[in-house]
Amino acid sequence: MITHITTAAKFSKEDIKAIFSLSEKIKSQKFNKKLLAGKVMATLFYEPSTRTRLSFESAMIRLGGSVISTENASEFSSAVKGETLEDTIRIVHSYADVIVLRHFSKGASEIASKISAVPIVNAGDGAGEHPTQALLDLFTICENKNINGLKIAMVGDLKFGRTIHSLLKLLSLYKDVEVKLVAPNLLGLPSSLKLELSQKGLHLEESENLKDSLFRSDVLYMTRVQKERFTSEKEYKKYFGKYILTKELARKMKKDAIIMHPLPRVNEIAPEVDKDPRAFYFMQAKNGLFVRMALLSWIFHKS
Ligand code: NCD
Repeated sequence: MITHITTAAKFSKEDIKAIFSLSEKIKSQKFNKKLLAGKVMATLFYEPSTRTRLSFESAMIRLGGSVISTENASEFSSAVKGETLEDTIRIVHSYADVIVLRHFSKGASEIASKISAVPIVNAGDGAGEHPTQALLDLFTICENKNINGLKIAMVGDLKFGRTIHSLLKLLSLYKDVEVKLVAPNLLGLPSSLKLELSQKGLHLEESENLKDSLFRSDVLYMTRVQKERFTSEKEYKKYFGKYILTKELARKMKKDAIIMHPLPRVNEIAPEVDKDPRAFYFMQAKNGLFVRMALLSWIFHKS
């Protein structure tokens, strides 16, 4: 069976345990540097990326594998000539042993997984999901906090923010997690997702107010307003800058809370907060390498 990673909902608690235990070993430099020797990973990116693509590529190389890549597939691949995603996958899967795909349309990796003879890893599908980001986010949370009974505030663009969608799906696997969703009314979490998560027992509460959501949270997860999903600049500007974590606001947070952000940040976290010992976003991004190394090892071990 091929292990496609299209949605965070694919992971069971046992899968996560296995991936995190591997991630810890890798983080402490205990891993086989030739584990994926002879394997080729294709990164097919139709949307911009820094962390996701580079950490995946570095992960593969550090495990002894090789990488082929189109970093700007919308412009530099045959998509320009009108080739469909389906046809591109039909070709690329004969050149690689795993395909890491970032695409602008929701559901793209699901479509690719129906065609591909090698594992598809969703590295972001439009406003859909970003399951590998969710894994590294959860890894960072579990390194620092007790996941059972966790209180987390998720702030910003919860409608289009795919990292949020995937992380919530992972959080719904754990006991007594309380989520405060902080967003402007029109950028709230899609109602179908809210329903799905509530049915799984995740405790969700909605608010438009960042200040009031800071006091009780163990984790503050800030996100960027997803400019590229808006139909007009005017519409985007209505929300831009609505939530900004400043040094002053950070004073209202618990002393042992952690501040996270999938990055890139635009202005959601003032640079003055970077020196705060609770600022974990750069460590979070660094963990991306270890978790993606673990995930690649796990996929090949399973497939
Ligand atoms: C995120 C994404 O691409 O969804 N970035 C990332 O992969 N770390 C978040 C974002 O772009 O806002």
